[in-house]
Amino acid sequence: MFRTHTCGELRAADSGKEVTLSGWIQTIRKFGSITFIDLRDRYGITQLVLDETLTEAIEKQNAGREWVIQAKGMVRERSNKNPNILTGDIEIAVSEFKVLNKSAVPPFTIVDDTDGGDDLRMKYRYLDLRRSPLKKNLELRFAINRAARNYLSDKNFIEVETPYLISSTPEGARDFIVPSRLNAHEFYALPQSPQTFKQLLMVSGFDRYFQIVKCFRDEDLRADRQPEFTQIDCEMSFVEQEDVLNTFEGLIKSILKEVKGIEIQGAIPRMSFADAMKDYGNDKPDTRFGMLVKNLKTQHTVHLQTLNESTFDVFNKAETVLAISVPGAAEYSRKQTDELIEWVKRPQIGMGGLAFIKYNQDGSCKSSFDKFFTPDQLTTFAEFCGSEKGDLILILAGKEERTRKAISELRLLMGERLGLRDPEKFNLLWVTDFPLFEYDEEDNRWVARHHPFTSPKPEDVQAMIENSPVITDKENYLQHPYASIKANAYDMVMNGNEIGGGSIRIYQKDLQQKMFAALGIGEEEAQQKFGFLLGAFEYGAPPHGGIAFGLDRVCSILGGSDSIRDFIAFPKNNNGRDMMIDAPGPVAEKQLKELNIKLA
Ligand code: AMO
Repeated sequence: MFRTHTCGELRAADSGKEVTLSGWIQTIRKFGSITFIDLRDRYGITQLVLDETLTEAIEKQNAGREWVIQAKGMVRERSNKNPNILTGDIEIAVSEFKVLNKSAVPPFTIVDDTDGGDDLRMKYRYLDLRRSPLKKNLELRFAINRAARNYLSDKNFIEVETPYLISSTPEGARDFIVPSRLNAHEFYALPQSPQTFKQLLMVSGFDRYFQIVKCFRDEDLRADRQPEFTQIDCEMSFVEQEDVLNTFEGLIKSILKEVKGIEIQGAIPRMSFADAMKDYGNDKPDTRFGMLVKNLKTQHTVHLQTLNESTFDVFNKAETVLAISVPGAAEYSRKQTDELIEWVKRPQIGMGGLAFIKYNQDGSCKSSFDKFFTPDQLTTFAEFCGSEKGDLILILAGKEERTRKAISELRLLMGERLGLRDPEKFNLLWVTDFPLFEYDEEDNRWVARHHPFTSPKPEDVQAMIENSPVITDKENYLQHPYASIKANAYDMVMNGNEIGGGSIRIYQKDLQQKMFAALGIGEEEAQQKFGFLLGAFEYGAPPHGGIAFGLDRVCSILGGSDSIRDFIAFPKNNNGRDMMIDAPGPVAEKQLKELNIKLA
């Protein structure tokens, strides 16, 4: 028997027991003539004590960090207890030990706060995974997985696997493609999601489907994006939006309860896409704090007048002027405001500058543009922004979209600095009523905001059927009837992250064809790419809808980290490389030949 107990298991009550442990040497230190070893396994660390004879024996073998050993001995209470570990009350007086395997000196020290840089730890991921923060992350992931599976299974969802070697799924990213040997000059695409398959399962009559499934998207990578990531993918038949939202509120609540012991009371709040954009500047608002965005140019004619009457060109010539009021920051020093100005000028934010008003405790206002406005006008601005005395009002002026994005980033930055983004607080939100289409300026056409299978709101179907998608007036594309068609789609947002998205689907062939046409997909192309789906819609497709959650994102938020990589056993770096197995890599000429591929 390799072990009777794990290294995280023994307590003072076990004193006197003869035990055998197996694990890795975390530390080994000689103290006079005896040796202390911290022995580690998946479950914890236990202190071993080797007497003089065994000390000599282990020294002879030159055992060190990360060697795998087995030790037999008696549990005894420690005189010098360690309250930081669960086994800290005991140690093992070793009577016998055996080296099970040697270890080279690891490239970094395997401790919670390691000295290994990112790249090194990625290269030796199997060693990095020995560290307890990463181990805890994978345990968290498993717990979330299990909670989701249990909830969905209890609700009669059936888990069905769908293929990975398919053809293109239009989720908006680039496909990863796989050449076919048996079908020369032809390629599979890896699924960006199982979208069409889950819809086909609805046509087959499996009215509740789920799958915890890998999805593949060749897109630019960020902290919350990996080229292969996992979805908790779900679909239901005979449902409306309300049914879907209720079912999956239940799912996320049950995950939070199981995994974090947090009970979310009441319904998850909902916000329309339009309100999210207006009040937070983006469609995935972090609602853990207020600091709402105020539009000085359009929300209030008084301000518009004040702005227009002034000679302050920065404001009156700008397309939009947006402000946030930062609580208690009126006392910011020149250095601090200068630093914020530099921050908004960074290329990622791209603003020309930042104006501010300090709404002082004594009720006076001091701004970075004093000479253009009377003190009264400044106070009116402050009051409009909902500011309290002591607040710092930050104002950005410029082009609509860029300014909106910038104020939204600035709001998050200030929220972070003020400690308002508490990682132990989990704020959920449904964002609803998205536009069905987005305008693609480059090609002067409509693209699907979610995906082409999302249905318009019932009240907007007519507008879609009656109007041509052609955009004749590029400048005023917003006036086109398609611009105001709303989608039967919803996103779930947690702490400012989109953790899930879904929609009620189109299930009638005619409407689906109309949708393809609206997106500039001609009849022939639609038939070639989605003929199977259009065909299926001819055989009694039930009304259906669903959602997919980004499992990696749920893990990282519940685990209190910004990066989903920490929750994936073997992730890729920002260049899409697996540093450990060194992929992607070249392939042999022979393989290329078999695939009829010549490298350019
Ligand atoms: P969507 O494209 O919104 O919807 O994806 C669902 C969720 O998956 C997560 N996600 C990602 N996570 C990590 N890395 C990525 N590259 C990545 N891309 C997306 C997000 C997102 O909310 N088929 C539809 C779902 C449906 O309509 O039912 C779909 O895939 O958390």
